[in-house]
Amino acid sequence: MISALSSRETSVEHLIPQISGTKDQQQAVNQIHDQFNITTEKATSIVEQFIEEMQKGLDHEGATVPMIPSFVTGRPTGDEKGKYLALDLGGTNLRVCEFELKGGGLFTVHQQKYVVAEELKTGEMRHLCDFIADCVDNFVCEYGSDHAQADEHLQLGFTFSFAVNQTDINRGTLMHWTKGFNCSGAINKDVVIMLQDAFMRKNIHVNIAALVNDTVGTLMANAYRHPDTSMGIILGTGTNAAYYEKLTNIKKWRGGEQVFEEMVINMEWGAFDRERRVLPLTMYDNKLDRESINPREQLFEKMMSGMYLGEISRNAILHFVDHRVLFCGLSSPELNKQWGFETSYMSTVVDDNSADLEQVRHILEETLQIPATTLGDRQVVQVICKAVGRRAARLAACGIAGVLAHTKELDNESAVAIDGSVYEFFPHFEKHMMEALEELFGDQATKRIKFSLARDGSGFGAAMIAMMAHKAALAKSKAA
Ligand code: BGC
Repeated sequence: MISALSSRETSVEHLIPQISGTKDQQQAVNQIHDQFNITTEKATSIVEQFIEEMQKGLDHEGATVPMIPSFVTGRPTGDEKGKYLALDLGGTNLRVCEFELKGGGLFTVHQQKYVVAEELKTGEMRHLCDFIADCVDNFVCEYGSDHAQADEHLQLGFTFSFAVNQTDINRGTLMHWTKGFNCSGAINKDVVIMLQDAFMRKNIHVNIAALVNDTVGTLMANAYRHPDTSMGIILGTGTNAAYYEKLTNIKKWRGGEQVFEEMVINMEWGAFDRERRVLPLTMYDNKLDRESINPREQLFEKMMSGMYLGEISRNAILHFVDHRVLFCGLSSPELNKQWGFETSYMSTVVDDNSADLEQVRHILEETLQIPATTLGDRQVVQVICKAVGRRAARLAACGIAGVLAHTKELDNESAVAIDGSVYEFFPHFEKHMMEALEELFGDQATKRIKFSLARDGSGFGAAMIAMMAHKAALAKSKAA
């Protein structure tokens, strides 16, 4: 066991909620508690495995946690200046932004969101690229400031939030899709070339100067204002993290002459434990996984991120309906539908402190059309949602603990930049994460970790990385 993790020896007990429902319902609550509780001991073993997997990913290609070198090497100074575009694909919407970096940590932004239709997410990649190109064109014509002469290309940072095997700062091939995207004709192809081709077909004068994962963008955006930022994390539709790694630790790096000391690593931590060694998967997780479009993949992500938490809860609710513990054994077409219980409902359910759980009743009876619910029913549903959310937060803490123990950041003050709907909106998510970190490291070490919400940071980070890449490319071409 690594030393930082041994600071607490006994497990902190998490109490089983007592409800006022039937005996069967109280038994269901006990069962849910056992299935979803991650004890301190369990968390410790997850962290240990996580650190091993990080090491494998740094040592060689093809590891489960791929630990992808991002080609981002410097830290921002805050004095960067200039106008840059950013494009963000991979969450709920497509976002196009124009940033003006003004130096002194200041910037202004214009932005526009576009909805990506479900057919585009699972159609041909060429159509998705054409759609993205149209959105960029629309943005530049309608909202962009007229800063470029007609023949001058605008420089763009492309945040593409999927697992990409990066081969240069503006090059990378897609390894696999996640989060419900499944376009054909994209795997093993360079996503920058595909999008740049779409710009060319449409005569759009935009150059993709950098390809950036959202976690890397979030890290850089936060570092612009807080230079001690050590990690960028997304806890949203999907989940992942990036951090600064010493180049000497990246054994697999074959990038030639090493003129820099550190590089940001895009971990793709959602892929952790494909081998099912440590993650405490329940039957509800297995059902979700089996029915997903990427079975056996992204298990860590499936236990933690916004795309999936509602579905895990739905599976658990239906299990207890089938055992006649909930709603007198009656479901509804709405609840029976895959993805029918949205993660956002969970926040409402967890947040309901009223004596008769009125908000929970509203979700169940009005939104999901369950004919009638008792207080006991509503309490069980609330316990399920709380347990699924708390487990997600504790797993996120295990990932963070793994990185901080690996980098030995715990000895210093460190800022962890986090973005995403789960972190921002799920009640008590940060509190549960902190509790788990305290159990793992003790409260002194934990006091040195500061979480900060980096809302929409990835676009800004991508624009900044585009600027750094563009300047480096100009300098190189001048020198040649
Ligand atoms: C993707 C990552 C991304 C994360 C958060 C995951 O599904 O594989 O690349 O950073 O979602 O958006």
